[in-house]
Amino acid sequence: MIELEGVSKVYSQGFIRREQTVAVDNVTLSIKKGESLGLVGESGSGKSTLGRLALRLIEPTNGTVRFDGLDLSCLSRSELRRTRPRMQIVFQDPDTALDPRITVKDCIAEPMKVWHLAMPVEQKRLVVELMDLVGLQPDLIGRYPFELSGGQKQRVALARLLALKPDFIVADEPTAALDLSVQAQILTLIKKIQRSTGLTLLFISHDLQVIGQMSDTVAVMHKGKIVEEGRTCDVLDNPKDSYTRHLVEAAYESSAWMGKNR
Ligand SMILES: Nc1ncnc2c1ncn2[C@@H]1O[C@H](COP(=O)(O)OP(=O)(O)OP(=O)(O)O)[C@@H](O)[C@H]1O
Ligand SMILES: [Mg+2]
Repeated sequence: MIELEGVSKVYSQGFIRREQTVAVDNVTLSIKKGESLGLVGESGSGKSTLGRLALRLIEPTNGTVRFDGLDLSCLSRSELRRTRPRMQIVFQDPDTALDPRITVKDCIAEPMKVWHLAMPVEQKRLVVELMDLVGLQPDLIGRYPFELSGGQKQRVALARLLALKPDFIVADEPTAALDLSVQAQILTLIKKIQRSTGLTLLFISHDLQVIGQMSDTVAVMHKGKIVEEGRTCDVLDNPKDSYTRHLVEAAYESSAWMGKNR
């Protein structure tokens, strides 16, 4: 479904002295249809950049990104626009995806209007169905985003995105801004939706435990490169790369610490 081949991204900053940051360095990676790949690595390792490259929200400096067999760099503007609804992103902060001036109903219905996916008379019924799918009480339909909790806002953002019936989703630390109990609920919801709709998922997190819960396969990113990848259980049980071992040990230590201090 998604194939990245030799993909790099170099950011250049500054006008007088150009500074260059190699955020993603020659990455080759693929995700099969309906599978979930967890991308893990420390802050600044290039995870979000790689997620944006996979969606073609930013241009790679080098390499090829293929979506369902289509080389995204060869698509015309209108062809790329037509594939957009099929590829979506969930952000860490749901406020990024929600317009504070419109109600839950309009937030969820907006993509249906923009992409002409449903007749106006059908929209309300579809909004209610999507709210049910993401576990939102129907009486929240007239609320504005500022009248919702963080978890509810993330559910609205998910419903809004599911209105487009995407095939591929990049979830970039979608629960990092939520407290622990709400985090678990949203992760369970994303997993349930992924299983029931057969979505392909690139799940980004710096937390190996979350990745263990969410992904079939895992890729470990360090300084822009993928240093290890494989089935999640194999990589977590038997990490080969020294950086992965360090991440696994740190995850065990923090869970042991949490256990002791509970
Ligand atoms: N638009 C940009 N312009 C210049 N440099 C950037 C830009 N976006 C990211 N970078 C740099 O690229 C590198 C990778 O950043 P990226 O956001 O992809 O990391 P990350 O793994 O997602 O980190 P985090 O876990 O903190 O979200 C960092 O050094 C960052 O400073
Ligand atoms: Mg990031």
